[in-house]
Amino acid sequence: MTEVQTQKLQALRSYMQEIKDRENPESYLIGILHKVQDVYGYLPREMMDEVAQTLLIPTAHIWGVATFYHYFNLEPIGQHVISVCMGTACYVKGAAAVLETLKKELGVEVGQTTEDKLFTLQEARCLGACGIAPVIMIDEKIYGELDRKKTIDIINQYRRAGSVGKPK
Ligand code: FES
Repeated sequence: MTEVQTQKLQALRSYMQEIKDRENPESYLIGILHKVQDVYGYLPREMMDEVAQTLLIPTAHIWGVATFYHYFNLEPIGQHVISVCMGTACYVKGAAAVLETLKKELGVEVGQTTEDKLFTLQEARCLGACGIAPVIMIDEKIYGELDRKKTIDIINQYRRAGSVGKPK
């Protein structure tokens, strides 16, 4: 765990201590799950148990909330998150083919992480870049006007950069 993660975790624990005696601590649950995901990138089982014990909320209820919102990751995610825009403009311009290319190239379905833990594949609704549809976002970076070849080239750039980070 990095120093930043440790600090965030400490802040999260003090926040839970602060709110546990408030009326209806359950109403803070979604905010807490966001903070847990901010620390780990997903919702680890041990942390869910800790939240349940601290706030006296049944674990089953916490998992119910976590699975209802697609935003929450229940499994560890890859180093890079690829969001494929399936909004109308992108769909019309071939988003389905881009998604199929990615699934095949990475060997995963939507919501899964590659075996080498480099990529997690997700779907998104409009990413606000309809003018360059079809679009994907990798972490915070948008790539547009994609076709099969361009999509694979981009993935290969990330593969070459490997665990050292993002391509230039
Ligand atoms: S529909 Fe894909 S960016 Fe808007």
